[in-house]
Amino acid sequence: MSESAHAVTARAPTAGSDLSDARAGVAQRRSSHTEPFCPKHHLNARMTLFDALRQSHELQRRLCRRLVRIKPQDRDTVFLTLKVELEAHAAAEERFLYVPMLMTNPGLSASRHALAEHHTIEELCEDLSVPDKGTAAWLATAKRLSDKVHHHLREEERKFFQLAGKLISDADKLTLGRSYLKDLVHMRQHYAQAYKSLAVDRQGAVVPAAS
Ligand SMILES: [Fe+2]
Ligand SMILES: [Fe+2]
Repeated sequence: MSESAHAVTARAPTAGSDLSDARAGVAQRRSSHTEPFCPKHHLNARMTLFDALRQSHELQRRLCRRLVRIKPQDRDTVFLTLKVELEAHAAAEERFLYVPMLMTNPGLSASRHALAEHHTIEELCEDLSVPDKGTAAWLATAKRLSDKVHHHLREEERKFFQLAGKLISDADKLTLGRSYLKDLVHMRQHYAQAYKSLAVDRQGAVVPAAS
């Protein structure tokens, strides 16, 4: 990794320093039902940045598949869980993958492309954030979101991560991975608190809130 990227990493947010207390508080009001949203990964300190990113990607793919198949009356919780995961992952990924990449000339174009796709996904989520999720139009937009998410994840894994792997040192892949995972959980808590139906459990997973 370049010196400039190191500097960016040092300035990047260190959110999540009080996560233990936050998790304990959230855990008291969470449901014991943690499937299928529990990734159980955030404490693995030996995980590289790319391993950690791919775990959230798998969760996003599972949630997208559920969203377009589940009964209309059950769409709300699945959609909100997916929305929170997309928002939290994008924020943490931008801070700990794309900001360092943006500081290098070879990483500039790929980073801009990825950030633009994050924005498109965010807009589709806003289009789906309506009270009535039982219409054919809603499902059609949900399928567009699923297609866009699958496209974005595939492009990241096959192109952008390969490029980033050449720009980031092995040591920084571990350091950035830990920082990303802390921030991912922090941002899940940040976004999930907007919805009474969601909570974040002690393992950092977004789960249905206790009723
Ligand atoms: Fe992304
Ligand atoms: Fe990603």
